[in-house]
Amino acid sequence: MAINILIKKTGPYVVSGDLSQLEIADADGKKVDISGKQAIALCRCGASTNKPFCDGTHSKIGFLAAEAAVKTEG
Ligand code: FES
Repeated sequence: MAINILIKKTGPYVVSGDLSQLEIADADGKKVDISGKQAIALCRCGASTNKPFCDGTHSKIGFLAAEAAVKTEG
């Protein structure tokens, strides 16, 4: 099963699928435990107090994302 990333319009990146092979690490290389998760929501507004995960704060701050996906040439 593939890993899917759904870009929410004004919220997180929702990652779902077979997460058993997915690894997440912070800038220092410290791994983030996602074992047993069926899906995760990664913060992209920068305001979560539970980074790298979304905690819903994007709604409170009125986060507006840029384009969900930018087309590339080629
Ligand atoms: S995207 Fe939800 S708290 Fe940042």
